[in-house]
Amino acid sequence: MTKQPHDSSTQVVPDIGLLPAHVVIIMDGNGRWARRNDLPRIAGHRRGLESVRSVVKKCIDKGIPYLTLFAFSSENWRRPPAEVQLLMDLFANTLESKARKLHENGICLRVVGDTTRFSSKIRMLINRAEHLTHDNKKLNLTIAANYGGRWDISQACQKVASEVSSGELTADSVGEHDIQRHLSTRFLPEPDLLIRTGGEQRISNFLLWQLAYTELYFTETLWPDFNDEAFERALDSFAKRQRRFGQTGDQVLGSKQIKNA
Ligand code: IPE
Ligand code: IPE
Ligand code: MG
Repeated sequence: MTKQPHDSSTQVVPDIGLLPAHVVIIMDGNGRWARRNDLPRIAGHRRGLESVRSVVKKCIDKGIPYLTLFAFSSENWRRPPAEVQLLMDLFANTLESKARKLHENGICLRVVGDTTRFSSKIRMLINRAEHLTHDNKKLNLTIAANYGGRWDISQACQKVASEVSSGELTADSVGEHDIQRHLSTRFLPEPDLLIRTGGEQRISNFLLWQLAYTELYFTETLWPDFNDEAFERALDSFAKRQRRFGQTGDQVLGSKQIKNA
């Protein structure tokens, strides 16, 4: 189907499978995990890295090609400076110590978010890791850092506006596709499944545009406790859902029958 400028980006109903192709995770609950275990908050963040390792491994084992993790929001700067500093140190150390391992495992790493606010050391480590892993195909791992959904939409609008002012585009022709192609996540397919751990049922300014038709899964499990079985439960829940994209249930069943005939 050719896209018209004013088509909804959700109008083209994608082929859907039992397994999500793109899983996005709001990794929440590190602080509460630490408190429950009588540990400082940073111990929860450190322990959370174990869960990252296990979901990455599971995506590779299952053949889920895209995984996007919310690591630090544009609002997280409001935390006590000492916690922000420890999170930055953890981010830098992890980038430094794990880039090679990611590469050896065939993982392509990308970071999305407003990275201009990070130290030059972190920016350098991001560039280096992205460069090293650029051609890998086993898993596309995207880390959202200093990411905000509103930031993403407004930076895309700025780019569209400059195309209009330079005459590359006319204001009348601007459509959803023009925003889409300037989003920081433009190289990713739309998310199929969002998982949020830690019990809160909110989006916290994550992928506001991209989540238009994503299936949402909320669990009380705290991120450091999110193990293989917890991930399986989320995937099972996804597999049982009927994604209708505005159609009726019968239409969806009908088109499945035609495909399977
Ligand atoms: C998520 O865990 C990690 C970040 C936001 C960096 P939290 O640190 O928000 O954990 P809780 O919500 O306080 O338990
Ligand atoms: C969302 O968690 C951001 C990340 C997981 C990185 P928060 O714990 O910061 O979310 P709120 O502030 O409770 O909504
Ligand atoms: Mg939290």
